[in-house]
Parts: sequence; C-alpha cells; structure tokens
Amino acid sequence: MSNKITIIGAGQVGSTVAYALTLKQLASEIVIIDIIKEKAMGEAMDIRQGTPFIGPVYIHDGDYEDAKDSDIVIFTSGVGRKPGQSRLDLTQTNVNIAKSVIPLITKAAPNALYLIVANPVDILTYLFVKTSGIPASHIFGTGTMLDTARFRARIAETYRVGATNVHGYVFGEHGDSSFVPWSLANIGSIPVDSFASSFTGKKLPDFNKDDIEDYIRKSGGIIINAKKFTNYGIGATTADLVDALKYSTDSVLTISSMMNGEYGINDVCISIPTLIGQNGIKGHLAAPLTDDEVTKLRHSADCLKDIIKQIEF
Ligand code: APR
Repeated sequence: MSNKITIIGAGQVGSTVAYALTLKQLASEIVIIDIIKEKAMGEAMDIRQGTPFIGPVYIHDGDYEDAKDSDIVIFTSGVGRKPGQSRLDLTQTNVNIAKSVIPLITKAAPNALYLIVANPVDILTYLFVKTSGIPASHIFGTGTMLDTARFRARIAETYRVGATNVHGYVFGEHGDSSFVPWSLANIGSIPVDSFASSFTGKKLPDFNKDDIEDYIRKSGGIIINAKKFTNYGIGATTADLVDALKYSTDSVLTISSMMNGEYGINDVCISIPTLIGQNGIKGHLAAPLTDDEVTKLRHSADCLKDIIKQIEF
C-alpha cells in the first residue's frame, strides 16, 4: 500500500491526528485541507519542520484536488457546541459541513478508505454511507474505539496489570447510550468477575461496574471542561486505526459501521467488534451477548435512529 493520507480539518483534532501519524511514520505524504487555508498551512508547516527529527514524511496543506490518489481520507471538520445550542442543532450543523465536503473529497479520492472522526461520529458515518457513493466497507467511524481504550486503561489501573492483558469492548453509540458487555470482558482469559477471586496473592481491590461505565461516558466531558477540547486520545485512536489498516493480518476494533441485521439491528451505524483489514471492513463479530446486553445495544441503536429521523440528510 502506498501511503498518502488526506486529513480534512486542521483544528485541534485534525492537527493532532496529523502529528500522531507523522510521529508514527504511518504515511509518506499527508495533505491537510481546511476551509481556513492559513490554518492548514500553519499546522502542516509546523509539523513538517520537525520531520528532520522524525523521518521522511512529506506533510503539506492543499485543496481537494491535492487529495487525488489518497489511500486514506480522515474527516475531522466540524464545530463544537456553542453555549445554549442543542445537541440536535449541533448535529445538523456538522451534518451540513460534511454534506458540503463529501462531493468534493469523493470526487478527488474515490478509492480511498474513509475514516470519520468528527462528532456525532455515528451520525456522520451514517451520512457518509448513505450519501457518498463510497462502498460501506470503506467507511469507518472511530466509534467507541476511544471509549474501549478508556475502559481497558481503567481496568488496568484498578488491578495494576498491563492494558494489553485486558480484553473487552465498549459497544453502541459513541455517546450517552454506550455500554460495556461485561459478559465478554476478561483479563488474561479470566472473566473479569472471577479475576480477583481467582488470584492467590494479596487481595485485589473491588470495583463497581457502574462507576467504570460512568467514568468512560464522562471522560470526554471532563477533559473538555478542563481544557476546552480533546485531542490526544482521539489522535492516538485514529493513528491506531490507520496502523491497523496497514497490517497484512486483520484486526478486531470497535469502529462504527453500518449494521446489517446483527442483533436485529439495521440501517444505523454503531460500534460492535468488527474485523478490519487492508481492504476495509471484512464483517462484524456478532458475539453472544446476554439478553440484557442485547436490549442495551438495541436501545443505543434506537437513540441514534431517533436522531437520524430528526436530521436533514
Ligand atoms: N471544510 C473544511 N474544514 C472545515 C469546514 C469545512 N466546511 N468547516 C469547519 N472546518 C474546520 C475548521 O476551520 C477547523 O479548523 O474544521 C476544524 C475544526 O476544528 P476545531 O474547531 O478545533 O474542532 P476539533 O476540536 O478539531 O474537533 C473536530 O472532531 O473529535 C471531534 O467532537 C470533535 O466534531 C469535533 C471534530
């Protein structure tokens, strides 16, 4: 795979994604496009001038035609919520921005894989699938990848084990209705529920599952209250997704993508474990869930469908 990546949006998220890709040398060429051209130019120039210390990544600003032959396009443009603005209003605004960009970018890069990062990510992923003409298997929302990382990190912190030993996922909307199917979560193959009791060493701390899920859902808000935006976590998440798309073996990630009857859910983009590889989405892993977990997933899908109904696509 040659390695040209276009990033749309040079804001906090787009520029951090560009920097993360550069540091990890995941592209040989990165194009940054923003409606404010000077912003794209400044971010690209700043990152480019560090590349002698990093490696041969050619990063520059550009227009849509410069996205030609991109292997991957990363969509980060959108606006944050204004005081007093409803979530629905914000959703329509960001849908409108995406609607203006889709024809321009898909004309320039019809064969690229599309990574949707801007929020509300599940709705924007749905918009891309429904209107862009790009095959659904080439459209990935970052979905609950970051929530899943937060979950694994939190369990790892609790038990002081490496996060790579923690297996489990956050399912559903990237938002308030997301949840952890605890029946699938394990640490080093031991179900989370029996991990502490099976350990023969010093007593391990207890934790409350609701507190952990609450922590995951509130993390984004806590960071925004503290520093006004989030960028590093989502930057690392997006770089990890790009990395996974380069492996010759497939990866299981909780990206947001179009559901096709899994758990009885259709016509909505949502996150469940999904097998992805160099050619895009291979399929979903509809793992066995408890009845309660299936109900939660359907509820999450219904929350998104409710928004979809109220938005002009
Ligand atoms: N075309 C191209 N770029 C645009 C357009 C457009 N039509 N409209 C806005 N932009 C650009 C802005 O000029 C700005 O540089 O998108 C960028 C958004 O940057 P920020 O306001 O800094 O927002 P950011 O924090 O980067 O978040 C972007 O990612 O994680 C999500 O929730 C986040 O939806 C938000 C998105």
